[in-house]
Amino acid sequence: MSVGQQAPAERIRQMFDQVAAGYDARNRFFSADRDRAWRHRAAQRAGLRPGQTALDLCTGTGKLAHELLAFTGPSGRVIGVDFSPAMLEIARRREPGIEFRLGDVMKLSESDASVDAITIGFGLRNLVDREAALREMFRVLRPGGRLVILEFAPPQRGLLMRAYRFYLSRVMPAVAGLRDRGEASAYRYLAETVQAFPQPHALARQLEGIGFSVSVERMTLGIVALHVAQRRG
Ligand SMILES: C[S@@+](CC[C@H](N)C(=O)[O-])C[C@H]1O[C@@H](n2cnc3c(N)ncnc32)[C@H](O)[C@@H]1O
Repeated sequence: MSVGQQAPAERIRQMFDQVAAGYDARNRFFSADRDRAWRHRAAQRAGLRPGQTALDLCTGTGKLAHELLAFTGPSGRVIGVDFSPAMLEIARRREPGIEFRLGDVMKLSESDASVDAITIGFGLRNLVDREAALREMFRVLRPGGRLVILEFAPPQRGLLMRAYRFYLSRVMPAVAGLRDRGEASAYRYLAETVQAFPQPHALARQLEGIGFSVSVERMTLGIVALHVAQRRG
């Protein structure tokens, strides 16, 4: 199955259900354990204070949601949203202190301007209508609240980036496929969607057009970008 960027949401959901069991271990392996630091940095940049409310969208197994808890404290609230039941089952087992909700992030049940911060880690790339999703996030975020987007950036030019492109599109699917053919196609999907995703400056412009003030941070040789977008009004 090659899912492709515009694949219907249901096929994407099925794919994440299929790969949920080994998801965390493979992330750790393929990122050489950098994924933990990436999520920690994203949580830090959400600017949360004790007692506040945060949404972690496309929460998966809940690792970024878990990082947020350190900032909201026991008096605050962290809600993780994902449409894959298999991912959420792992998240709930791991973190009973977080409310994990099965749902589509394209249509959030929160009321307008009710949330202090939103994070989305490696999720935006999977959403079939990015503009509509970002507008929905803007709607539920309070003025001054932050949306933090952690995502792979498409490889740029240069020798090192050519090597990275090869790693992403050939090595990762081949290695993942040694265990399971479904996993090979999930990693081909990853490579396709990373390469089709906008460059950080283009995503920043899109966010500004919606009404955010944006700063961008690149991590790990620029393969991962962190957009910190503050709702203006
Ligand atoms: C690559 S995983 C990222 C998981 C996690 N945030 C992390 O940092 O590892 C993407 C997640 O987005 C979820 N997802 C994709 N589209 C979604 C949608 N429209 N609504 C809810 N969840 C969605 C998938 O089920 C999957 O768990």
